[in-house]
Order: sequence, then C-alpha cells, then structure tokens
Amino acid sequence: MKICIIFGGISTEHEVSIASGTSVIRNLDKKKYEILPIYIDKEGQWYKYTKPIDKIENLSMGEKPKELEKIKNIVDILKDSDVIFPVLHGIGGEDGSIQGLFKLINKPYIGCGILASSVGMDKIYTKIMFEKANLNQAKYEYIKKVGKDYIYIDKNFNEEKSTLEEICRRIEENIEYPMFIKPSNSGSSVGINKAKKIEELKKYIEYASEFDKKILIEQGIIGKEVECAVLGNDDVIASCVGEIIPADEFYSFDAKYKKSNSRTLIPAQIPNEISEEIRKTAIKAFKTIDGRGLSRVDFFIENGTNKIYINEINTLPGFTQISMYPKLFEAVGITYEKLLDKLIELSIN
Ligand SMILES: Nc1ncnc2c1ncn2[C@@H]1O[C@H](COP(=O)(O)OP(=O)(O)O)[C@@H](O)[C@H]1O
Ligand SMILES: [Mg+2]
Repeated sequence: MKICIIFGGISTEHEVSIASGTSVIRNLDKKKYEILPIYIDKEGQWYKYTKPIDKIENLSMGEKPKELEKIKNIVDILKDSDVIFPVLHGIGGEDGSIQGLFKLINKPYIGCGILASSVGMDKIYTKIMFEKANLNQAKYEYIKKVGKDYIYIDKNFNEEKSTLEEICRRIEENIEYPMFIKPSNSGSSVGINKAKKIEELKKYIEYASEFDKKILIEQGIIGKEVECAVLGNDDVIASCVGEIIPADEFYSFDAKYKKSNSRTLIPAQIPNEISEEIRKTAIKAFKTIDGRGLSRVDFFIENGTNKIYINEINTLPGFTQISMYPKLFEAVGITYEKLLDKLIELSIN
C-alpha cells in the first residue's frame, strides 16, 4: 500500500509538523507500506522527497528535510497513492482546506473531514457547537474587528458597532478576570493572552486582532489542565486522561515548545469518576463536530469544585513520539505503530 505523508505547511506549527511527520515515517511498518513523503515549506511550495527514507527518519525536531524536488503537479502525485496522511497542524492543514483537495480527487485520507476540521480549528464555532451539545465550558464573548471598528456579537449573532472601551465594559459585566483573549483561528497558543484587568484586556484584544478578525474572550478557569485522545469513525474509543503541568502561568507557546520543564502526567492523578466523565465527554465532543479518525480533546478541572470544562478539540494533534496523543494510547496498550495501522484502516473504511 502506497501512503503519502504530508508535513511542514504554512502555519505557525510548521516545525512541530516536521517533527510529527518524521515520527510517523519512522514508525510505519516498511514491510506493509511504501512511503511517499511530501514536504510543504512555509511559503506553501510542495516538494517530493527523493532520497532513501532512512535519511528523513533521522531529522531532529523541526529540522527541514534536504534532497527535495519541487512538485509541478500535486494532484497527479496524490492520485497515485492509496492513502494520504496530512500530518499538518493549524491553518492550511487542520482547517478543512487540504481535506477539500483530497475529497475532490476522491482519495481516502486520515483524520477528520472538511466540516469537523474547520469547526475544530475555529474556536468560536467550536464553542457554539459545544453549547448546542450542552457541554460545560467557560463563559465567553465574541467580538470582531473590522477595519478600525470593533463589533460586539451577541448570542443570536446580532452585530453592534462599538468602541474598544465600550466593548471591554460590556465584557466585564458578563465575565470575571482572569480572562483569556484568543484569536478565533489560532494554534500553539499564538496570539493568546491572559488578562487580569481592563488595561490588559484592551491591549490583548488589539494584539489578538493581528491574527484574526474574530476574537474570543473567555472566563479563565483555575484548575488542572487535562487531555484525552479519541480514535474511531462510528465506534469511537477514548484513551486514558493525561495531565499537563505547564512551565508558565498558562500553557503558552514558550511553555509548549521552549521550556523543557513543562511536564505531562499519564495517567492524570484524578478520581476515577472524573476521568470517566472526561472520556465520555471527549467522545461526545468528537461526535458533536462530526469527527472522524482521531482527535485530542482538552479540558480543565476546576479547583475546589472538580467541575469539568471542555476547552477545545484538536483534529490533528501533535504526533511526535513524545506527543500527548500517541502517549495516551500507548498507556492503554495501543503502540504508536498499531495506532498508525488503525488510522489507515479507519481512513479506508
Ligand atoms: N478559559 C481558560 N481558562 C484557563 N486557562 C486557559 C483558558 N483558555 C486557555 N487557557 C490556557 O491557554 C492555553 C492555550 O489555549 P487554547 O485554547 O488551548 O489554544 P491553542 O489552540 O493555541 O492550544 C491552554 O492550554 C491553557 O493553558
Ligand atoms: Mg490548546
């Protein structure tokens, strides 16, 4: 079976995707699969990898592959493979756009389809869907920046033009500090900040608007941060629950990729009933966005109340050997290699 592994990509998660892609290549059973590595550079140019596969397997985290050949016609190459695995994170790879290309050429591919990918990538639309499914989540406000104007959007999608000052007052009436300010389309914590007072709220809204015109403001939840992996199409299974212990005040970009003292704890040290509730909710969240194949669903457990809050769903989670997604399944007996076999089988089904 010929499997096309696409990695790199135009998003801020380019380097992480190289690490994920090379891990996947390293762990695929070479007796079962012929591997066709495809690299997308940061400018969006596609390349074929021409040299023996073992060279690519030894790239270090984020190291760009060499021995590349520019691709003139990607469609012909994709058509020639049996299955495609877009090991791409963020915009252009996790948001439904590349999935649209695979669908048009009628090729099986690993992971969520167009709808689930784009809903999962957009934090505001994820919230709207989770609300519909009655999943407990942090209170939020939705605003837009269009040109120099700020627009407040109410729960019925009515828009009201306003000043930044007025918008912040209105947000303060509905949610308490600390608040998290996020560009609706982002990943790896890029553009995300925590505000403890109005001056910061204003500053971080302006900052978030540099990444996306849609901005989400959320009530900060004080507690543990935990994650659960799901796998399947119609019959979906959940892994155990893992905990993140960030090396920063929150799980910021630096805490994720620069500070080596961010830690994970698998399984999370939480009561069994809470872990079961999280696993059930993870599957429900996956079904709510019409997920397929795989996702990692992230939660908070509030200090004091032990109440669970869903945070987000990642339809193409980090896939390096030390990433949470494969590690959570490894902890319940599904090795990285078996996980890949299963994902390929699910994509063909
Ligand atoms: N409502 C919240 N309460 C507490 N912490 C939050 C909240 N929202 C986000 N965070 C912190 O910010 C990090 C990044 O936010 P997240 O929504 O997961 O964005 P990304 O898609 O970039 O991972 C989270 O991992 C968490 O540490
Ligand atoms: Mg996150």
